[in-house]
Amino acid sequence: MLLRVNPVQPEEDVIRQAAEVIRQGGLVAFPTETVYGLGADALNEAAVARIFAAKERPAEDPLIVHIANIEDLRRVARDLPPQVHALSQVFWPGPLSLILPRAAAIPASVTAGLDTVAVRMPGHPVALALIHAAGTPIAAPSANLFSRPSSTTAQHVLEDLGERVDLILDGGPTLIGLESTVLDLSGEKPTILRPGGISREALGLVLEGIAVDTSTPSRREREEGGLPSPGLMGKHYSPRAELILFRGAEQEMLAAMKERLDELLAAGKRVGLLVAYEDRDSFAGYPVIIEYLGPQDNLSHVAARLFAAIRALDGQGVDVILARGFGTIGLGLAIEDRLAKAAGGRVVEIH
Ligand code: TXA
Ligand code: MG
Repeated sequence: MLLRVNPVQPEEDVIRQAAEVIRQGGLVAFPTETVYGLGADALNEAAVARIFAAKERPAEDPLIVHIANIEDLRRVARDLPPQVHALSQVFWPGPLSLILPRAAAIPASVTAGLDTVAVRMPGHPVALALIHAAGTPIAAPSANLFSRPSSTTAQHVLEDLGERVDLILDGGPTLIGLESTVLDLSGEKPTILRPGGISREALGLVLEGIAVDTSTPSRREREEGGLPSPGLMGKHYSPRAELILFRGAEQEMLAAMKERLDELLAAGKRVGLLVAYEDRDSFAGYPVIIEYLGPQDNLSHVAARLFAAIRALDGQGVDVILARGFGTIGLGLAIEDRLAKAAGGRVVEIH
């Protein structure tokens, strides 16, 4: 079932109904400021199992636990490192997930057996009202099928998960459009495991010596020498089409894209482009489907459009998507991370 909800002042009866579904062990898809989440009671093991089943997500990929106020942090995490205070004061509610030692109340299935838990206080009135009304922390991954781009609209959730979800709250398109930044505070050095809505530069104003490691296997995997966390690795956000990411010096990058485009068109391929408004003239006259992500220097706009644009190209049945990079400053890092993952290694680096 899909229910409209006011994203600024969520209707009380809608929230009450959704909270009841959570309390009964059901699944509710809800908007956050980043992407839509697929939520269940984080303290209910059977409910959490339904999340993995609905998404077809491997059990080794841990979930993020969402809280609505700072007091609840102690219900889900323990031995809080000193940096948590400043980080939560500055960035919560907001798109920052902290990896912390797990409290006993959190079932092992939520964290895929890890001794750590990802926690975040989302900055969206609907998400906050829902968690508050449910009276329990809510475990929620992005509300997409595993290996599809995250959902930024309720329509995407419906496409991917449909009847597998008990209730979808439609609060309109999400504002940020990329997932939260995942910051690991459980090791010696604070480490960004997934760049996201809060930039590395912003974190740097509060915390010194932050490392970025998008390929770091989680703690348990390091100990056991097993596979890296699928959620942090390789081909994750994969469109059905083959995506190729071009990055590097502006003019040379566009030239390389055009060269590849000519080859693909000559081979009879249907091609889609993910580019900036400024690239319009470069690709004028080509028989391609173009998704403009925004002005090159407006990374918020690009981030907000990215997943919907990938889905749109997929929907039009293109064989290949050529995407340009947007640099690595601010949100650019998260944008490149998602594009590189969607490319699954097909990255053309121009120097
Ligand atoms: O913005 C977001 O973070 C959205 C909204 C719904 O909050 N959620 C989201 O969840 O993107 P998900 O499950 O799609 O991504 C969670 C990421 C995964 O890359 C997962 O591997 C990582 O966080 N993660 C969760 N718990 C972890 C842990 N204990 N150690 C290391 N990585 C962890
Ligand atoms: Mg996800």
